[in-house]
Amino acid sequence: MKLIKSIHELRTALQREERPVSFVPTMGALHPGHLALVKEAAANNDAVVMSIFVNPLQFNDKRDYDAYPETLDDDISQAEAAGVAYLFLPALNELYPAGPDGMSTYIHVTKGVDVLCGAHRPGHFNGVATVVMKLLQIVAPERAYFGRKDAQQAAVVENMVQDYHVVTDIVTVPTVRESDGLAMSSRNVRLNPEERADAPEIYRALQKMKAVYEQDPFSPETGRGMLQRSVNGKVEYAEVRTYPELELPADDYQGKMLLACAVQYDHARLIDNIMWTRK
Ligand code: PAJ
Repeated sequence: MKLIKSIHELRTALQREERPVSFVPTMGALHPGHLALVKEAAANNDAVVMSIFVNPLQFNDKRDYDAYPETLDDDISQAEAAGVAYLFLPALNELYPAGPDGMSTYIHVTKGVDVLCGAHRPGHFNGVATVVMKLLQIVAPERAYFGRKDAQQAAVVENMVQDYHVVTDIVTVPTVRESDGLAMSSRNVRLNPEERADAPEIYRALQKMKAVYEQDPFSPETGRGMLQRSVNGKVEYAEVRTYPELELPADDYQGKMLLACAVQYDHARLIDNIMWTRK
């Protein structure tokens, strides 16, 4: 595995690579969820590029940015063992030479952004879309891999790639969970023991809520109340949307459905979801 810090060096190396090249963007603090993306990418492509870059543009809360876990040595060994060929580790001024706020052009997400997490994290998805667009331009992969755990992020990226005629195919990978069902996340380490014991209830409740919804569709307010009765953390939202449009489904809607939620604990905000197809 090659460690690369400069855009120029990465582009030069990739020009010599066999195609297809695949890409897994991350912010590091790698866990088996990230590695599932790498494994899926490695199974279907010649070379896997992973990036680790903690993107300041997508953090609403500077404390969350400053406290973002950094485990670089461990990340390097995990990435290599999972089959990454190029690990791209750009410094802040490599991606943002004029500073994160100094660019002339930003991606502004207009659809599916004032709902779910977007309603609670203003500007977050603009920051995600902007950095993902940059990274897709730098790596120019045939395929890029995203986790379904961050379903709204995957939807925003799928929509952006379509809007901007980006040639990369976006592939989504199912959520990797702990044995008790908790979705793996770099933020799980911030849960105290009681919260850690409570958190698996999120996924259990989502499964039950999906079954209820199929018999008797419920509103976002009802969904939030249902999840709140199952967990001690504070439920921000729990609602069903169409995917990837993220609209409230009409009665006769057929297609991909997303039941997504966010739960706030003392020092960690957890998200999870279930997706299915309504025929
Ligand atoms: P990060 O949170 O590091 O996640 C990188 C990728 O790993 C995302 O596509 C995310 O959905 C996926 N992922 C995280 N946990 C997962 C799990 N338990 N199962 C499956 N996939 C999982 O998402 C970001 O970074 C950033 O927003 C980024 C796209 C890199 C842009 O900065």
